Amino acid sequence: MTHQSPPEGGAENAEARVVIDTSVAHQSRIYDYWLGGKDNFAVDREAAKQAIAAYPPIVRGVRAQRAFLARVVRYLAEEMGILQFLDIGTGLPTANNTHEVAQAAAPTARVVYVDNDPVVLAHARALLTSTPQGATSYLDADLRAPDKVLAGAADLLDFAQPIAVLLIGILQLIPDADDPRAIVARLVEAIPSGSWLAVYHPASDIDQRRVGEAVRRVNARSAGTTTLRSCDQVARFFVGLKLIEPGIVQVQRWRPGTAAADDGEEIAAYAGLARKF
Ligand SMILES: C[S@@+](CC[C@H](N)C(=O)[O-])C[C@H]1O[C@@H](n2cnc3c(N)ncnc32)[C@H](O)[C@@H]1O
Repeated sequence: MTHQSPPEGGAENAEARVVIDTSVAHQSRIYDYWLGGKDNFAVDREAAKQAIAAYPPIVRGVRAQRAFLARVVRYLAEEMGILQFLDIGTGLPTANNTHEVAQAAAPTARVVYVDNDPVVLAHARALLTSTPQGATSYLDADLRAPDKVLAGAADLLDFAQPIAVLLIGILQLIPDADDPRAIVARLVEAIPSGSWLAVYHPASDIDQRRVGEAVRRVNARSAGTTTLRSCDQVARFFVGLKLIEPGIVQVQRWRPGTAAADDGEEIAAYAGLARKF
């Protein structure tokens, strides 16, 4: 388990304590730029802008992603009584971080954040601001080593009690060669019945030409690669689990409630939430 004392300020300041390659873009910082954050480098901004030029709705998509994260966490904490969250692929701290949403509904909620980006690590302090009754921790680990993630998470989470595993905008960063389905299956195997899996994943079968070009531009400038997947491919991550209504849908259509209006515009991403019985 890693608890850091990161520097204040933007990504440029983070270099003081962690080694960061600023010559290649990274997904967390590209995503930060799309969200309007300041924790990114020139190479990230260039990749982010190139993608927006190819597919302008990408900015709506990342906002919809954050809104989905908040809706899922609120639903689980408020309505399903879930008090433990394993948020893998946390991203840079922003508004409505998982523990803030969960603990607003359930102050005793415990959240383990996991990411493998050193810049996210450098900003982890903002994720470690728990209510006194609850707890948060940060794990510097790679989803492709799920047993290490599970072992680290067990320092804070009780694996005899239900846990919500959040894979919000990370599985597209795991190429097929790394067998993301097996990774998800390992996580699901480790959590008890009554637990949950939430997934947000960019789509390969919506607005294919523009989305494909945006991804090509990001991949050409990034350390990792993004793999788009179809609705059927996303559904396979949920094998053995029971999806709750409305199933796997375009993200803006997942239980929009009153807060997020579906204005009828397409967003090239799928979202779903399922329970382990
Ligand atoms: C697009 S961001 C999503 C952030 C957040 N989940 C959200 O929905 O706002 C993806 C995050 O996953 C992290 N990530 C990518 N590959 C990873 C891996 N193999 N293991 C752990 N984290 C990873 C990146 O560093 C980045 O912070």
